[in-house]
Amino acid sequence: MARSMNKNNAKPHPLPDDLSNQVIDLYHVYGMKLQNKVVALKGISFDIKKGEILGIIGPSGSGKSTLLLSLGGMLKPTAGKIIYPDGTDITKLPEEQMHSFRRNNIGYVFQEHNLIYHLTAEKNIEMPMKLNSTPLSERRERSTELMKKLEIYHRKTHTPNRLSGGELQRVSIARALANEPQLILADEPTGNLDAEKSSQILELFKNLSDEMGTSYLICSHDPIVAEYSDRSLEINDGIIIGEHGLGINLMDLDSSRLLVMDNQNRITLPENAVEEVSGAFLYTWKVKEKGIFLQPLGSETSVDTQKIKFCPNCNLEISPKTYSCPRCGAKLSRIVH
Ligand SMILES: Nc1ncnc2c1ncn2[C@@H]1O[C@H](COP(=O)(O)OP(=O)(O)O)[C@@H](O)[C@H]1O
Ligand SMILES: [Mg+2]
Repeated sequence: MARSMNKNNAKPHPLPDDLSNQVIDLYHVYGMKLQNKVVALKGISFDIKKGEILGIIGPSGSGKSTLLLSLGGMLKPTAGKIIYPDGTDITKLPEEQMHSFRRNNIGYVFQEHNLIYHLTAEKNIEMPMKLNSTPLSERRERSTELMKKLEIYHRKTHTPNRLSGGELQRVSIARALANEPQLILADEPTGNLDAEKSSQILELFKNLSDEMGTSYLICSHDPIVAEYSDRSLEINDGIIIGEHGLGINLMDLDSSRLLVMDNQNRITLPENAVEEVSGAFLYTWKVKEKGIFLQPLGSETSVDTQKIKFCPNCNLEISPKTYSCPRCGAKLSRIVH
């Protein structure tokens, strides 16, 4: 299918066996007119490994939903490539091919569960299989299996208005898994849930990925996602700035953050490092045996900065070393005097 899409009819190169996806230098610009332009993704590259849970953490407005919509083929990025295992670059797929590609390869879990309100949980879960013309007996068998696995079988005849927040999210996860996709994209999947229910849903993702080998890309403003991820990337203003592995300390992400150099050789300094050097913006640098040594040029290049103490969006009191609001995800910038 993808062959005809490639320029010069070149055969797409399948990804190495251990990779689920490759995102290469992705850009997205919203708005056609110069004055309305928002560059939401500014050259993002990363791999998703088969069977891994990859978290994407960043404050609101940092580009998470734009990234997920692009990976799901719901939004055409302005530039860049998104490669699936058989080598298909979905940014080149025409709309009609994208629909069937998406149904077979990608499951989507939204913050707003997007279930069909007049259908039962069971029928909602079966919908993607129905669109794929899966026979009824097979649909029933699969939806029953999924409902049992996700502990919602006793709710199978309920419509969404009779389900709790956690149950709604379980139904939408079951629906996302219905066609056995290789990749699940989850956009703020715990956004409407309390802390306990959030942990349960994230734990569920972990169990499902261990059991079924599906890859998960989970976006959230809540760093707790990193605790349940095999790896997580921090996104800020459309750029990946940091990466974390397993065993992180949620209270101190600075201690486990690896800085990421992107395709344009950019490294974004962590906020706490900038604060530590009093907001210096000129640095001398030396390449040393063990790395690059940066030194702030001196007090004349520094600007006085002050950390915002209350979230400007929801007014929550903010503790030190917090750079996005834990409640609403708003970015907490420093005040520059
Ligand atoms: N449809 C749109 N039109 C114009 N700008 C948009 C649109 N959707 C998102 N944006 C902007 O793109 C940036 C990234 O948004 P988004 O991907 O929704 O971030 P997040 O999901 O991290 O909150 C923000 O500045 C946002 O205002
Ligand atoms: Mg979003």
